[in-house]
Amino acid sequence: MPVPKPPREDRSLRGRTVLVTGGSRGIGRAIAEDLGRAGADVAVGYVKDRTAAESLVLELERMGRAARAFGADLSRPPEVHRLLQEVGAWTTRLDGLVTSGGIYRGSPVEGTSASEWEEVLRVDLIGSFETIREGLPLLRTSKDPSVVTVSSVLGSHPAAGGVAYQSAKAGVEQMTRVLARELAPRVRVNAVAPGFIRTDLNRGGHEDPGYHAFVSGGTPLGRWGEPEDVAPAVRFLLGPGSRGINGVVLAVDGGIPLG
Ligand SMILES: NC(=O)c1ccc[n+]([C@@H]2O[C@H](COP(=O)([O-])OP(=O)(O)OC[C@H]3O[C@@H](n4cnc5c(N)ncnc54)[C@H](OP(=O)(O)O)[C@@H]3O)[C@@H](O)[C@H]2O)c1
Repeated sequence: MPVPKPPREDRSLRGRTVLVTGGSRGIGRAIAEDLGRAGADVAVGYVKDRTAAESLVLELERMGRAARAFGADLSRPPEVHRLLQEVGAWTTRLDGLVTSGGIYRGSPVEGTSASEWEEVLRVDLIGSFETIREGLPLLRTSKDPSVVTVSSVLGSHPAAGGVAYQSAKAGVEQMTRVLARELAPRVRVNAVAPGFIRTDLNRGGHEDPGYHAFVSGGTPLGRWGEPEDVAPAVRFLLGPGSRGINGVVLAVDGGIPLG
């Protein structure tokens, strides 16, 4: 299905600067591209795929935006600290932060080791928190800063397999509400909760015809999501149109919880 591009005239983020962790690939990349089209300058986070991050920077520069790639492992707090220092040296003001950097592990209960718990919690939950906390001094230089975390439909609707991942995402949702409460009124904090989105993260799933059909059949909209489905929701939560919204988890899941 062709993915509609945002209307050309949407420049709601013109003059704003946003850091997108996990910007090199998947959902984060689609978000960064969309924000660039809406006028934002973008700091692109990645951990390994520097080539992908640099190619996105070129794409954003071709749109006339300022962009730079920043490598850091979110599971390592000193690297997250350095990331925000480097972003702060590049831009004096940060208006938005999107924490899309993340990993998925889907082991059944008996196969879920303590190290799987630790790995997933360190990247998906603690890494997101560290990024926000370290980003606060920069965010507070903005007139109306907005943070968007990335949960999952699995953060509130359980499925068999991946207990560590699903618990981390449940944590991301409660963390979002706590931060929204504690950082108000200065900084807004909201989440998006995507459903099953076709990216590298679940390539094994969407390339398996049986599982592909299973997910499509269990989704009222009748299809897998695309990264470009998630991006406009993030743009909205970062932009002026959501100025009264704080502490919500916006589902972008095709209605999966409706059954
Ligand atoms: N795909 C889905 O169905 C789905 C559904 C719900 C929620 N989500 C969530 O959406 C977010 C993005 O997922 P995706 O599907 O876009 O995944 P993806 O295509 O695998 O991309 C993952 C991104 O995160 C970065 N990353 C991974 N580990 C990192 C680390 N330790 N430190 C810093 N960056 C790291 C990767 O950087 P490199 O390119 O450098 O490796 C890449 O940019 C995740 O939080 C995921 O849980 C995804």
